[in-house]
Amino acid sequence: MSTHKPVRRITVPQIRNRKGGQPIVSLTSYHAHTAAVVDKYADFILVGDSLGMVMHGMESTIGVSLELMIMHGTAVVRGTQRSLVVVDLPFGSYEESPAVAFRSAAKVMKETGCGAVKLEGGQRMADTIRFLTERGIPVMAHIGLTPQSSNVMGGFKTQGRDESDWATHEADAAAVSEAGAFALVLEGMVEPLAARITEQVAIPTIGIGASAKCDGQILVLEDMLGLNPNPPKFVKVYSDLGDRIEQAVKSYADEVTSRKFPTEDNIYR
Ligand code: KIV
Repeated sequence: MSTHKPVRRITVPQIRNRKGGQPIVSLTSYHAHTAAVVDKYADFILVGDSLGMVMHGMESTIGVSLELMIMHGTAVVRGTQRSLVVVDLPFGSYEESPAVAFRSAAKVMKETGCGAVKLEGGQRMADTIRFLTERGIPVMAHIGLTPQSSNVMGGFKTQGRDESDWATHEADAAAVSEAGAFALVLEGMVEPLAARITEQVAIPTIGIGASAKCDGQILVLEDMLGLNPNPPKFVKVYSDLGDRIEQAVKSYADEVTSRKFPTEDNIYR
């Protein structure tokens, strides 16, 4: 008989129950090896559609396909065992109708093995969130700066600078919470608005460029590692991985060109 006990992943209800409790730690990851590191510390890992820009050099997230999300989502689920894995539904895969959203979300969950999906939008997506959650698909919502709407918003702009817009954002938060979302990402939103929404809604808020009062925080892994030469202003950079990779590549190139590599240790006999 096997004595091996599989480690159980953090569940959607466990995240949902962290409202007002111990802050929720989350990061993005798109790749099995980095996900395995993040898995040790994060409550959930987001396979964000930011992968279009970070991994594939796109100018925005608009061009990301469902197949790309499934490919990276599968890698992250394979590389992890503890964190809840949440996969973004990309632009064009869910907005048309709740039925279309269900088909896309079910495909993502079946093919990747992830535990939940995320989609962008407030009041306009409430019916879809209700439709999905009632049919077994946990949904994380995302309001404020929603990159998939950057063409309508006129770029990546901080939301709520004008206080007269606050009621709309608050109504968005209330709508997705009442529709059954288990958590809510607040991206690029002025601090007092994010703090107010966090007080108002029953589900945990996850801030990115929002407020320290959110119930949890998320960053794009490559931004906080120092791999993005132009990270957003709000990002705290915890490492200088870009410089360290360049140094390692340069050392390798120098050794190859001066015939110092490979040595006896680096070849099979
Ligand atoms: O795509 C993404 O990485 C995201 C986070 C920034 C929240 O949606």
